[in-house]
Amino acid sequence: MKKLLNSIICVAFLGTNFASAENLLKIDAKIELHDMPSTFYGVFFEDINYAADGGLYAELVQNRSFEYNPEEVLREIGGKDINQHINALMHASCRHTPLFAWTEHSRSLITVRSEKPLNSNNPHYLSMENQRHENDFVLKNHGYDGIPIKAGGVYEFSFFANRTKPESAKPFTIELENPKGEVLASSQISGVGKDWKKFETSLTASKDCPDARLVIKTSGKDVVNLDMVSLMPRDTFMGRKNGLRKDLAEAIKDLNPKFVRFPGGCLVHGRTINNAYRWEDTVGDLEQRKQKWNRWGYYQSYGLGYYEYFLFCEDLGAEPVPCLPMGITPDAKPDKQSVVPLDEMQEWIDSCLNLIEFANGSTDTKWGALRAKMGHPEPFNLKYVGIGNEEAISKEMQQRHILIQNAIKEKYPDIKVIGSLGPVADNLTWYKFLDSTKTYMGDEHYYNSPDWFFANTRRFDNYPKGETKIFIGEYASHANALVNALAEAAYLTGAERNADFVKMTCYAPLLARYGNTQWGADLIFFDNTKVVKTPNYYMLKMFGNNLGNCYVKNELSLDDKNKRIFASVTKDKKSNELILKLVNGEGEDKKIRLELNSAKISDKIAKGEILTGKPNDQNDRNNERLASREFEADLTKDLELPANSVQVLRIKLSE
Ligand code: AHR
Repeated sequence: MKKLLNSIICVAFLGTNFASAENLLKIDAKIELHDMPSTFYGVFFEDINYAADGGLYAELVQNRSFEYNPEEVLREIGGKDINQHINALMHASCRHTPLFAWTEHSRSLITVRSEKPLNSNNPHYLSMENQRHENDFVLKNHGYDGIPIKAGGVYEFSFFANRTKPESAKPFTIELENPKGEVLASSQISGVGKDWKKFETSLTASKDCPDARLVIKTSGKDVVNLDMVSLMPRDTFMGRKNGLRKDLAEAIKDLNPKFVRFPGGCLVHGRTINNAYRWEDTVGDLEQRKQKWNRWGYYQSYGLGYYEYFLFCEDLGAEPVPCLPMGITPDAKPDKQSVVPLDEMQEWIDSCLNLIEFANGSTDTKWGALRAKMGHPEPFNLKYVGIGNEEAISKEMQQRHILIQNAIKEKYPDIKVIGSLGPVADNLTWYKFLDSTKTYMGDEHYYNSPDWFFANTRRFDNYPKGETKIFIGEYASHANALVNALAEAAYLTGAERNADFVKMTCYAPLLARYGNTQWGADLIFFDNTKVVKTPNYYMLKMFGNNLGNCYVKNELSLDDKNKRIFASVTKDKKSNELILKLVNGEGEDKKIRLELNSAKISDKIAKGEILTGKPNDQNDRNNERLASREFEADLTKDLELPANSVQVLRIKLSE
């Protein structure tokens, strides 16, 4: 009976609409062309736009360790030629003073000092001095544009402290106050002695406040020294200590990413060789992490370091894809050091090998032991390592790629090495080099116009494919309007068609803090209390949650007038569903007739999700007009493709 019903549905579905449709999508569900790599959709987390500190990393205190240092910034930006960079330097000197984000509200002398520091990786600390009279010390931290707190929320405070006259000292009072000075949470710490020691307490907020500040008070006739002043919400993603901001992490999780590329981008190679991101600085006890100014113009606490990145990947069920510097700074000026000499490369090679040991090594290895000490004796199961980012194709680049890749292959033959394919699409020189060196995958980047993305959906159909696979490690079409999401969706239908060659894709950049962006188009915007998802995000959420596990034969024939209609068809073999991704980049509604050779549907209604609107629509803090929504499609009729839309349909098959 069920079979008969299926046949009736199928006949009706194929029979009634033949004459009306001008566009046709023919699907041969039984012909599986290639598997879809489970890693096809992932995310690229770069610490740009305050994505880590002031972003995903939940720390609420800015400049907690007093390491902001204008001299370091000056060296990185200005080199010897300070005059040429005067504007950047003026900007930097405002934002990177050692007391940035702190204010002092008493008559004590406040300085940042470096004698007898907490440790040599953390050389500066704050010192408040009342030598002549007993007096109040009052210090405030303003966080990142204020500290957001919620009524009933618990906030974990900690600092390292010492003072010169503990015998006569009063306890410390720790408060959260609103901008009017009203106290919204309070607690005390006593017992601060002559030696550095960590103290902790928790605060419970009595009211919501989007822009509170942290207040630290004591009094005495002595010198009080503080370092690593931290305030963390207890409520973090997956309840992790030293954890991640929940709403942002959840927005990322909702994309269903199957890998995370991190921590950059250009962040990785930095402005100069000294400025390169060294993963070793980012692991171990928080107070031992050696902080650095980054090439996007702000300081990194490294509270979100490699251990936390690996943990985040594990929590997401995503493969970690770290990207490591290769000893070249692509954008360094000629007067700066831009390439590590070959005879000094061992340190950089060892760094890659040590990272693999940190992630996967047994607990009796040096780096495996550190991972265990940090709380994760089990290996992280690292499978991929990226070398370099956007280096020009040069003899220097090739030598260093080969050196690092050979060392990895020799010691860890199972690790898949990803090499750089430079900063633009269409140049095969990089690809030929990587293929000739048997590199597992090449990392392509492009930031092009929507027109380019619409026009290049066939790019991989015609690519001179070798053994080396493709990782589209960074792409975006210049902006965050609906048309951009549609252009990127169209392009991805072409990448899915070639997913035996294109194994991974991720949009760039992922996060951007309002008012602190260094890059125009980003996937998720946020401030202290809001997370604003772009149309590009909604499109990728639909695609990432509807991958399917094999690509099936399909053919789209269009009426001549319809240029910007695109389709991809995969199958979820477990649920026995066809998954259609359909993009209509035209400004008018369209219809498509579906022809399912040899397949039978089990239900004439298909569940779908759609994102549609006007091409220039975009979301912002005050107006989140665009979001994908669920709908149902009647399979007895032509499929409807509203103007400017992208949709995903799941069609249940009966056999
Ligand atoms: O995604 C922003 C930047 O764009 C990346 O850091 C870099 O790799 C690219 O040029």
